[in-house]
Amino acid sequence: MHMKKATLYMAMILCAMFVTVPGSSAQQGGDRQATVIINADQGKETISRHIYGHFSEHLGHCIYGGYWVGMDSDIPNTNGIRNDVVEALRKIEIPNLRWPGGCFADEYHWMDGIGPASERPRMVNTHWGGVTEDNSFGTHEFMELCEQLGTEPVICGNVGSGTVKEMSQWVEYLNFDGISPMADLRRANGREEPWGVKYWGIGNENWGCGGNMTPEFYADQFRRYATYCRDYGENRLFRIAGGANSTDYNWTEVLMQRIPHRMMDGLSLHYYTTNWRDKGSATDFGEEHYFDVLRRCLEIADAIDRHITIMDRYDPRKRVALVFDEWGTWYDVEPGTNPGFLFQQNTMRDALVAALTLNYLNERCDRVKMANIAQTVNVLQALIFTEGEKMLVTPTYHIFDMFKVHHDAILLPLSLETPDYAFEGRLLPAISASTSLDEEGRIHVSLVNIDPEEATPVTIYLRGAEANKVSGTILATEAMNSHNTFENPDEVVPGEFRGARLDGDRLRLEIPPRSVVMLELD
Ligand code: AHR
Repeated sequence: MHMKKATLYMAMILCAMFVTVPGSSAQQGGDRQATVIINADQGKETISRHIYGHFSEHLGHCIYGGYWVGMDSDIPNTNGIRNDVVEALRKIEIPNLRWPGGCFADEYHWMDGIGPASERPRMVNTHWGGVTEDNSFGTHEFMELCEQLGTEPVICGNVGSGTVKEMSQWVEYLNFDGISPMADLRRANGREEPWGVKYWGIGNENWGCGGNMTPEFYADQFRRYATYCRDYGENRLFRIAGGANSTDYNWTEVLMQRIPHRMMDGLSLHYYTTNWRDKGSATDFGEEHYFDVLRRCLEIADAIDRHITIMDRYDPRKRVALVFDEWGTWYDVEPGTNPGFLFQQNTMRDALVAALTLNYLNERCDRVKMANIAQTVNVLQALIFTEGEKMLVTPTYHIFDMFKVHHDAILLPLSLETPDYAFEGRLLPAISASTSLDEEGRIHVSLVNIDPEEATPVTIYLRGAEANKVSGTILATEAMNSHNTFENPDEVVPGEFRGARLDGDRLRLEIPPRSVVMLELD
């Protein structure tokens, strides 16, 4: 059995004082029984909706074809932006969108992407397929996209190959209201009011594609660049330092040590769920690969905990947010597609990775204030695929839809006892859970069962609150590699979950294999 908190035993005793439990949970459910105790009166931290954020880069068909089709396209669009994609993303209330990269950000020169489109210079997108970038999607188009989506822009500036002046001018162009060279240029390009962009990344992966810097060198660069990214008017920039790669704890350590915390609102981290030596197919896999991917996903949680421990040492008051601004699965590209476009299918396995990750990030919401899945449309762990005028949503999309109830809700501490999912003698915790309380007083419980074969009975004890009604939604599939295609776009869709029975302060249900359940308690 995996024990989520050392305090579980104490909590069980406490719980027994409040509820009548005839016999222990193990007696009732056998080995496969999971127990969740929700401490509904102990919520303190808010789950920032920005944990449910997104990332879209000039990469493959993410921007071009994914969002942007141009105003002359036959595909229904508003000012060149696809209506179907905007509608789908509005439905899941995406809180933010990070752009223009990724690796692309550190070779992007924003001034090439403003003014009349026909006069914009071209460039080679050296990182992603070596294709010609015509800069037709630039600052104004991105800000228009954010306005249509009703989402906050997160802009990542160029440290690797750009200048301090260039980055400083971009902020002035976006945010200054008065008379100035950049504000005047913005007006000349058709935008009177400043946009007031808040979230600002100072470079991306500067240990690698963003300049191959040492952490010491980058820390100094950050101090320089951040100094000239000014606050204009009421707007306060939220400056995000380019953070570590996966388990590079030294990077986190050096940045926390060398950058004054008043200059750095967020420190980023990138960690993909992948085996870089053998990424494997997104759809064609057996249980060996299924287990491996979920194991890697769970290991990321341990690694983030170590980054957080370092941050806690330098910043016990948690002033600097951890911004997990690239995460998700990374497989081999689909056969026959451009290797530089990172297009991969998306199955129930990806939905489980998303649900596990979001449950974990909710639990760490005292430090993690933003996260961005890579990438929203047509790239890596996408939520949406487009093909010409067609569009579909993936299993990962459905997880973001189901989990949106956690946006800005209060995290409720819980204790979890879970059976193991065993594969060839190796064990993983089968069940993951997270709980929050929303503004209307509803409690939501997100439960994940990664065991591909076994259903798991769960008993939930609700401490410190009463519930009269329970309803639910489930995402479950025939197979672990079930996925949506343009021929069959509804192979994986959520359905109503009627399997939960409420009995006083105790809730019983059985979670089917490889499934995600969201319960609502009124
Ligand atoms: O998301 C794809 C790439 O992965 C990004 O451009 C880069 O930041 C990361 O290495």
